[in-house]
Amino acid sequence: MSIGKGRSSSWLWSLLILFSCARDLTDDPIPVIPFADFNVNLTLPDYQSLAYDGGTKEINSIGVRGVILYRKNASTYLAFERNCTYHPNDACATVNVHSSKLYMVDPCCGSNFGFDGKPTGGVAWRPLRQYHTDVNGFNVVITSEIIN
Ligand code: FES
Repeated sequence: MSIGKGRSSSWLWSLLILFSCARDLTDDPIPVIPFADFNVNLTLPDYQSLAYDGGTKEINSIGVRGVILYRKNASTYLAFERNCTYHPNDACATVNVHSSKLYMVDPCCGSNFGFDGKPTGGVAWRPLRQYHTDVNGFNVVITSEIIN
């Protein structure tokens, strides 16, 4: 009798541990803050970090927590929302470019994201929001149209 009780309580503990460690797939929606088209003039000194492939620039006047613009190549620039997708309403849920320049990270929850926006480590399971960009010669226009 007592053996059966012990078994059922250890089964319950295993279940509890399993669920407490499971990813939270019920995260809040990422807020939406529309913004006017933002023009990046690549010839300005402010944007010299975008002069080479893999370069990034934080633009904090648009989006929810700002945008990270990433140069994939001379004709492709990707614009990622800085709001971390894991618990996006947390005060600290803001993504930075890691000092290695190889990926993006929310130092608060430790989630990492590749420059395709997909989570690569940590608790986040949703990709970063991506905004539409248009490239016209030396100008990149970021619009608030969400493309993912
Ligand atoms: S979302 Fe809470 S810290 Fe990343």
